[in-house]
Amino acid sequence: MMQKEIIWRCPSNIALVKYWGKKENQIPCNASLSLTLNHSFTEVSLTLDEKKEKGIELQYFFHEQPNEHFQKRILRYLEQNEGSFDILKDYSITIHSTNSFPHSAGIASSASSFGAIALALLSASEQQDENFYEEASNLARLGSGSACRSMYGPYALWGKLPQVSQSSDEFAIPILDIHPNFHDMQDAILIVDDSVKKVSSSAGHALMKGHPYADARFLQANQHCIEMLNVLAKGEYEQFITIIEQEALALHAMMMTSNQYFLLMKPGTIHAIEKIMEFRKETGTPIAFTLDAGPNVHVLYPGKDKLQVQDFLESELKGSIKEIIYDNAGTGPVKISG
Ligand code: PMV
Repeated sequence: MMQKEIIWRCPSNIALVKYWGKKENQIPCNASLSLTLNHSFTEVSLTLDEKKEKGIELQYFFHEQPNEHFQKRILRYLEQNEGSFDILKDYSITIHSTNSFPHSAGIASSASSFGAIALALLSASEQQDENFYEEASNLARLGSGSACRSMYGPYALWGKLPQVSQSSDEFAIPILDIHPNFHDMQDAILIVDDSVKKVSSSAGHALMKGHPYADARFLQANQHCIEMLNVLAKGEYEQFITIIEQEALALHAMMMTSNQYFLLMKPGTIHAIEKIMEFRKETGTPIAFTLDAGPNVHVLYPGKDKLQVQDFLESELKGSIKEIIYDNAGTGPVKISG
């Protein structure tokens, strides 16, 4: 049999409106909206070989090394979704995965990894049709919820909203009406702490069940998605900043008020947030922060203010943090070969 190599590159994304809380089968409790990154991606190479045994045959390498933890997670994902990938019946598969960014850098590696794996497996199968990205988004979601949003760039929406006709809980959709003010968004990721996550996102989502503020939070996030669609279309920086900062703090407030409460912000996180707010007040530059489920700070600003903001970050914040990773809005996944 001819060995065919399929390579896909899938970017990570940073949520502007956060997904936190899910139902059975990775269905989100609220809609979320994200910015797709450009330089932060996972590249997956998939090769197919003749099958020797019954059942799924997977060999998984992360940066050329076998990785038992990821191997198990991906095997479980394949077992749960065997019916969706017809190649698993006939072939043994080998996956080589590499990230363009450091591990535990506060960049969602599960989003880019499951995105790239779903794309590679789907494009190797016979079942492709004109809804390829929609199907890939759905399958990526089953691996990691936020991965479904990485299929489109620069902005994607995931979750059913009655006001948005194409929206769905099962896959993300691209947001097409974007004002030029938001075409060239920059994301500087301030690495405050690069240790491994204290609480997995699955455990975090689970804590929204029975959370005293859950209903109000889900309502707020859906409302923020609707507002953000309007803000992106109209080019309104001020409201953009208010929504994303409120979202970041609401996400962490949920963590801090769940029945098993926990705190992911570090002193460096607060220091960076305060500096960002001060700089915005002094200069009027439309710069804003957001947070993922961790202590690192994503700083968002338009391309036109790039030099001024980078100057500020290097002079005022670089000394008190570990590293700054400069990224920007990307256009979504790319097929490299196959
Ligand atoms: O995709 P998951 O299950 O790792 O959850 C992601 C949760 C957040 O990153 C905190 C928010 C989001 O919408 O990406």
